[in-house]
Amino acid sequence: MQAVRSGYSHAMTTVADSSLDFVRLRDLLGASAGRFDVDHVAVCDSTNTRLLERAQRGSGSGTVLVADAQTAGRGRRGRTWVSAPGSSLSFSLLWRFPAAQRLEGLSLAVGLAIVRGLGKLGATGLALKWPNDIWLNGRKLGGVLVEVAQGARGEWATVIGIGLNLRAQPEWVEQIAQPFAALDELSQQAPDREAVLAAILEALLEVLTQFSSHGFVAFVDGWMSYHALLGADVSVEQHGLKRYGRCGAVDALGRLTVDTPEGEMHVFGGEVSLRAT
Ligand code: BTN
Repeated sequence: MQAVRSGYSHAMTTVADSSLDFVRLRDLLGASAGRFDVDHVAVCDSTNTRLLERAQRGSGSGTVLVADAQTAGRGRRGRTWVSAPGSSLSFSLLWRFPAAQRLEGLSLAVGLAIVRGLGKLGATGLALKWPNDIWLNGRKLGGVLVEVAQGARGEWATVIGIGLNLRAQPEWVEQIAQPFAALDELSQQAPDREAVLAAILEALLEVLTQFSSHGFVAFVDGWMSYHALLGADVSVEQHGLKRYGRCGAVDALGRLTVDTPEGEMHVFGGEVSLRAT
């Protein structure tokens, strides 16, 4: 569900989908099943918060937490992310990297894994809106929030949080302040959570393995093939400063190139807002 929501209705939490079919998930994951340790809760504050905590307690790469609902789900730029049972998929994955690993572009690589995974399920019309949004037919389908903790010897524990809209709900029209999409608009029978989760986890396994060896540079071409705003007139707002220009490519570190009247900018992700003008 969209990050722009601020309220949370418990009335919405009494719907189905309160369990995850672990047997089906394991079957769908096939040979990759052993690489993941999946846990499910009906409600938690934020799956990212929970996994950051588990990372501190020593949980390993591949630890996954799925929640039907989050009471303090977080989106980018300090926004709230609400997950409604039965209509969305919200989960986090813990992945560890050695201290020497460069992490620039990780969240973009994760976005690419998501569209690849959904593509394997037959989804079309997908695009990536820099830095971390997943678009379907030009509207927001989901988002990625990567958070990073560093261990005593400098090793990285990354928590990769993913929220996706599966089935649009009538109340979203009033609740969501930006155009949204859900997977069920592709076919009446939207894929179930297990199918979506398995497809994305498998794609993530491949992407994260490659990212460990090569960093984001290995994904530039792939990412560019889904670049939603390439060539568009955009505004970029960062640190209270808004600039206008033409949206260009991403570079080997996942920075976005924007041609402005003052020259070429390379914009890092994080606290930045990019909009088509
Ligand atoms: C965004 O578009 O702003 C990113 C949204 C990320 C939401 C997911 S839902 C699972 C995980 N837990 C959180 O608290 N946030 C992420």
